Amino acid sequence: MTSPQRILVTGATGQIGTVLSAALRAAHGSDAVLCTDIVTPPPASPCAERFATLDVLDAARLRALVAEHRIETVYHLSAVLSARGEADPLRTWEVNVNGLINVLEAAREGLIARVFFPSTIAVFGPNVPPNGTPDDAVLNPTTVYGMSKAAGENWCAYYHARWGVDVRGLRYPGVIGHQSLPGGGTTDYAVDIFHQALENGRYECFLAADQRLPMIYMDDAIRATLEIMAAPAEQIRRRTSYNLQGLSFSPAEIAAEIRGEMRRRGIGELEIVYRPDYRQAIAASWPRSVDDREARQDWNWRARFELPQLVADMLDNLAAHATCTV
Ligand code: SER
Repeated sequence: MTSPQRILVTGATGQIGTVLSAALRAAHGSDAVLCTDIVTPPPASPCAERFATLDVLDAARLRALVAEHRIETVYHLSAVLSARGEADPLRTWEVNVNGLINVLEAAREGLIARVFFPSTIAVFGPNVPPNGTPDDAVLNPTTVYGMSKAAGENWCAYYHARWGVDVRGLRYPGVIGHQSLPGGGTTDYAVDIFHQALENGRYECFLAADQRLPMIYMDDAIRATLEIMAAPAEQIRRRTSYNLQGLSFSPAEIAAEIRGEMRRRGIGELEIVYRPDYRQAIAASWPRSVDDREARQDWNWRARFELPQLVADMLDNLAAHATCTV
């Protein structure tokens, strides 16, 4: 167990928040982690205990919770993602940028000591090298989500340079896990395909068959988050955000892997049809893979899950759950 800290997680009922909150409770003790979100979790959710409602735009409420629970570290996961963000660009900007600034201000005022900021591959636009995109490639995002996260990265670096705020960030690729469902993202297909494969044997994909994207298995994403936050401060040389590469695949590649594994297990078939929608243009503007050498060098990051292990682990967990609930 790492040394205990008092932690507040925003966006704790979301795809990553649900799993990260549980991991933080395992590492620091259940009483150490306060889960917050604008959405109240269902009573069965792991977040339901020690939960407080928080709209991240309500700076006074954030401060009050931080003071009441003597919070030291905030994992600021609340955000509107790429696809949903396009429906209301100004609201997306407000939540993603002003919500972050409220957290950074609390840190500047000395109310909290450390902040985790999740950035994204969406900070990149179409004019970067698409394979092995380096950390310092130009940021010309095409979505308001990407714009807000690129701005957020710069705010993080600014608060660090100007006021010494210990803020650390990762550019998550698409995150795939069995524990929770994503919402409003362009990479969400790579989770949904598993659920549809097991429930219906058929998946209608909103991206093109050959649209490769950087992805990461949830276990790796959570481990990366815990590792960057546990690293000595002097090892964190980038205060904007680090590229994080897990693996890359296209819808056709993951469908073939799922189909093959389902056949081997005798648990059905998968038919996939492609009906690309507006999300295909978003995906096409992102890298196919990113270069995460700086994360490897600075704080020893190594991804563990490749496609076969990822698919096997997803099917193990989702099929076991399906058996329990029928
Ligand atoms: N998973 C995110 C999205 O698709 C990318 O960071 O919006």
